[in-house]
Amino acid sequence: MKEQTVYFIEGDGIGQEVSTAARIVLDSAVEKAYKGSKKLIWKELLAGEKALKEKGTHLPEETLAALAGAEVALKGPLTTPVGTGIRSLNVTLRQAFDLYACIRPIRYYEGVASPVKAPEKINMVIFRENVEDVYMGIEWASCTPEAKKLITFIKEELGKEISMEAAIGLKPMTPKGSTRLIKSAIEYALRENRRSVTLVHKGNIMKCTEGAFRNLGYELAEKSYASEIMTEKEAQSGMSKKLLLNDRIADAMFQEALIYPEKYDVLATSNLNGDYLSDALAAQVGGLGLAPGVNMGEKLAIFEATHGTAPNMVGKDMANPCSIILSGAMLLKHVDMPDAGELIEKAVEQAITNKTVTHDLASQMKDAKSLSCSDFTKVLQDLL
Ligand code: NAI
Repeated sequence: MKEQTVYFIEGDGIGQEVSTAARIVLDSAVEKAYKGSKKLIWKELLAGEKALKEKGTHLPEETLAALAGAEVALKGPLTTPVGTGIRSLNVTLRQAFDLYACIRPIRYYEGVASPVKAPEKINMVIFRENVEDVYMGIEWASCTPEAKKLITFIKEELGKEISMEAAIGLKPMTPKGSTRLIKSAIEYALRENRRSVTLVHKGNIMKCTEGAFRNLGYELAEKSYASEIMTEKEAQSGMSKKLLLNDRIADAMFQEALIYPEKYDVLATSNLNGDYLSDALAAQVGGLGLAPGVNMGEKLAIFEATHGTAPNMVGKDMANPCSIILSGAMLLKHVDMPDAGELIEKAVEQAITNKTVTHDLASQMKDAKSLSCSDFTKVLQDLL
């Protein structure tokens, strides 16, 4: 029998409810698909408020040590205070384990209420650089000695004027960081027979960071994928190759995603652009409650719920567990249990078609049955 260890972090707020649902559904899917020949071994790791209560710290050493030797983990949402307090645990985990690619598949499930006219045209996978850019959190508040020192240095040594009262944040992006992210998007697109990879950037304004991201993408394609990839110009002049590589400026991409979503497939983008775009696209297909995601590095992949801790519904057994369950389906595919992953995706699709869903979806559907998180979990088990 193949046993696969899966570490899990329950998460704060609704994390406990949705994580429990995910473990139940994943175990059932593996049992159904492999009839006892494969099994998941769940091992809990503490992080967030539960860790603070039990271990006196948000991110205990034991958790970091276990993840250092892990292949996969499934994580619920973790609270991040705005403006003050601890830095985001999510960001800390991404940086600690160099989980450089945040991958978010965005597709529409028939029947889900959407704010756009043709949500079924949306089927994209976003590859977002995950450890560099302004997310490194290198910044100094207005009028601090550090900010003033930096402004003085920039003025005196580099000849650029900045107000002495400015807060300063840095946007470091390395060629290595950009290239490996774009490479993972291209490899994915080739492997999954997708049509195109679009480099999304703000290179018209930030030429040395965002513009370089774009240029590095084209250089990589030319150097390593010449026989498989063509540019937009080449495609327009009649060339035909397996994959199209093009680029869009980020603000234009938001328009394109609304007006012509069918033209786009795999997107590769820097950290902050990817953050905005992931949530905007998830909203176009009916909200974050259904969107799965993973933070992936060379060795470790942390699959996660993409929504937050939903403080307004904690303890009410009404959260939608689909995001973490569908992330779990991605995890199963990643650890060579694709049949179990597909069973879960089909069960979620069927539950939505049957209009047996949690409150957030039911309240926006006609004649739907509104289920608690735990009853919805049972429905999914029955549909596997
Ligand atoms: P949120 O995602 O928790 O909530 C936004 C809205 O969506 C709320 O109305 C909430 O009730 C609803 N919602 C979220 N998840 C739902 C689910 N599974 N089922 C049904 N409805 C759901 O975002 P918010 O309020 O901005 O953040 C709350 C906390 O979560 C913050 O501390 C934030 O930092 C954290 N957060 C953590 C994330 C992570 O760990 N990956 C991601 C986003 C936010």
